[in-house]
Order: sequence, then C-alpha cells, then structure tokens
Amino acid sequence: MPGAQLPSCETELETRRGLRELMREFIICAHEAPTNAEFALDDLPASGRLDLLARCLTAALLLSHDVRRSVAVWIVLGDELLVRFEGRDIRSLNPDERSSAALLRAAIAAKRGAIGEMEANPSPGVYVRRGGLSTALSATSGQLVQLVEEGAPTAEVSVPESPVFVLSDHREFTPAERELLTAQAAQQVSLGPRAIHADHAIAIAHNWVDTAGYAQY
Ligand SMILES: C[S@@+](CC[C@H](N)C(=O)[O-])C[C@H]1O[C@@H](n2cnc3c(N)ncnc32)[C@H](O)[C@@H]1O
Repeated sequence: MPGAQLPSCETELETRRGLRELMREFIICAHEAPTNAEFALDDLPASGRLDLLARCLTAALLLSHDVRRSVAVWIVLGDELLVRFEGRDIRSLNPDERSSAALLRAAIAAKRGAIGEMEANPSPGVYVRRGGLSTALSATSGQLVQLVEEGAPTAEVSVPESPVFVLSDHREFTPAERELLTAQAAQQVSLGPRAIHADHAIAIAHNWVDTAGYAQY
C-alpha cells in the first residue's frame, strides 16, 4: 500500500526479549543482473536471476506482517550500480518476487539521476548510486562478515553487534571481490556445510543474530 505507515518491528514481546535491533546490513554481489531497466517482470530468472535478488530483499527486510526497520540491503549490480533499500523508510515491499523486482527496476530506471557520488531516491527507502562493492564497503561502518561455506562456523564466532553481511548471488564471489573483502579484513563465516541459496543464507544469518548465536529465544 503506497504511503501506508508500517507498524514498528519493536513489538512489546520483542522489547521484553531484548530484541531491539542494532543496525544490520546485507551486501549482495549480483553478477548477471541487468543494469538497465528494460527487463520484463514476467520472467525474472531469465534476467540475471532477479528472482533470487527479489527473494533476498524480502528475506532481509520482511518479517511476518512487518518490516525490519534496522536493516539496510545493498545490491551491487555489475560492480557499476548500487541500489540500497532502507527498512526504516521502505514502502510497497511485499513478499512476492514481482513487487520486489518492480522496486529494483524503478531504482535502476532512476540511475540517470545518480550523478557522481550523488544518490537518486526514486521511492521511499530506495536509493541508487554509481559504484561497486568498494563503494558499498566504504559507506558501511559495521563489522564485515563474508558469508562463505568454508568460513568459520557460526558456533565458534561471536555474534557481531552491527554486522555487515556480504553474500554472493548464484555465482561464486569473483577473485576481485574476495581480494577486496580480504583487504578490508572481513571475517569469513559459514552458516553450515552445504551451499544454500543466498536468500536462505540471509534468513539463517538473521536467525543467528536474532537469537544471539542460537542462545536466546
Ligand atoms: C548459491 S551460493 C553461491 C554459489 C555457491 N558457492 C555454489 O557452490 O554454487 C550463494 C551465496 O550464499 C552464501 N552461502 C551459501 N551457502 C552458505 C553457507 N553454507 N555458509 C555461508 N554462506 C553461504 C554465500 O555468500 C554464497 O556466495
């Protein structure tokens, strides 16, 4: 519902359980998604797996009938365009892939308004700017966590206060991305021994932080 005021994610129960969230960010490196808006919403898998990116957005930002206000999602498109979604301001994000992909398409269409370091803001909570992974990394200040199957098991890692999770899409991280993350001292963390879909990895990462390392329910 455009312009509708979404309820706060801090319900009484969450406050009692100490679940008031600090900032949590997700950076998703998309390798084949389009950087122009001329794609159809009817066949998202054929457009560089936009279906997966749409599911990543909802996994990161939505709760059941609610929004995670303290979450930001960065989608890195071809290392040339950055789309950022801010949970505190976002409107019209629904659980279906089509509406999430439509928000992303509108953001890509607005890229002409993103000049130099200036962002365009095509809809509430959605921002687009020029740049790639390094631009996103310099704009975040939390603890960098690169999600990789071969990383340290979550059971052995302290849960970061304000994590910035970095994930790849359906492709591996590129050598340049790996190098950049290593140079920025990103901690490599594994959510389990099996390669899972990026949107599932986001749900598990949220659960890891929500439960303070599977300790609080
Ligand atoms: C589908 S995977 C990427 C490709 C995958 N490595 C493969 O073998 O096909 C998508 C992303 O989700 C995250 N991911 C998947 N499984 C994971 C795991 N077990 N632990 C941590 N992150 C994982 C990683 O960021 C990964 O790049």
